[in-house]
Amino acid sequence: MQTLNGRTALVTGAAGGIGRELVGALLRAGANVVAADVAEARLEELAQSIAREKLGEGLSTRHLDISDQHSCAASVAAVQARFGTLDILINNGALGMGAIRDDHMTKLVAIEEITPEMWDRFVAVNFSGAWYLTRAAVPAMKRAGWGRVITVTTSFFTMLRGGFHPYGPVKAGLEAMAAGHAKEFDGTGVTVNVIVPGGPADTPMVPASSGLRRTDLIPPVQMTYPLMWLCSSDADGVTGRRYIAARWDAAASVPDARRASEAPIGWPDLATAPVWPGGAPKA
Ligand SMILES: NC(=O)c1ccc[n+]([C@@H]2O[C@H](COP(=O)([O-])OP(=O)(O)OC[C@H]3O[C@@H](n4cnc5c(N)ncnc54)[C@H](O)[C@@H]3O)[C@@H](O)[C@H]2O)c1
Repeated sequence: MQTLNGRTALVTGAAGGIGRELVGALLRAGANVVAADVAEARLEELAQSIAREKLGEGLSTRHLDISDQHSCAASVAAVQARFGTLDILINNGALGMGAIRDDHMTKLVAIEEITPEMWDRFVAVNFSGAWYLTRAAVPAMKRAGWGRVITVTTSFFTMLRGGFHPYGPVKAGLEAMAAGHAKEFDGTGVTVNVIVPGGPADTPMVPASSGLRRTDLIPPVQMTYPLMWLCSSDADGVTGRRYIAARWDAAASVPDARRASEAPIGWPDLATAPVWPGGAPKA
């Protein structure tokens, strides 16, 4: 594993099940990590557990509600001021369906149960938050000619599932945003990629009431394998790709792990032939 010494990463949802694994892996590789979350008590627990592991030197924690555009811009500015750079943005923070009802997995959620306020909250946290941070972080990455935006979406099954709103369609929007940003930033040195667990992962987002055996769930550490490779300079120029973490075999060679795990972001095969006056536009 290449060292990330001198790189600085901002991880949202850092106090959650997947976020804390990502933070630990980035610290082990030598990065400075700003662990951001809305949950202050769990951020404090994360800092204590990182200190117990003696990984604490590069860690700072930051209270951040990613649905607040001003806090997002201020957080990026604060990271850049403190470390001189923000090289890696990991859009991982999200609300799960547990925000509506704990037993949503065994009893799907009906439209009548979702208030317009709840709908707006999901859009703000699970969609707009990533855009606010990307907008704030990317200009300096472009000037530096190097950057990583890595966004955690979800399985296509979940995006299209009935009774899984707002989470599913909002994550589909996030997936489309990442695809568009990958194209927009192509050639600047800033890459944009998506990682998904590939199924239910063993984190608080999958509640005890799900009826699923915890040992059958995807271990959150699995997310670190494609992530750490994407953060390395070996992945320079790799953009617009989507990784199913459960299919990334950490014991395999990187080319073999990529073959099993990697595809383009989104649904590009459906996006090729619009009816367009005067001929198809450039992709
Ligand atoms: N667990 C799964 O089965 C699963 C499957 C597919 C995708 N994902 C995605 O993985 C990512 C990580 O989720 P997880 O499984 O670790 O869940 P988690 O609930 O353990 O972590 C999510 C974190 O996001 C934080 N968060 C919520 N609202 C926020 C806000 N407004 N501002 C900042 N942070 C906020 C929470 O406090 C929490 O720490 C999410 O994007 C999730 O959608 C999870």
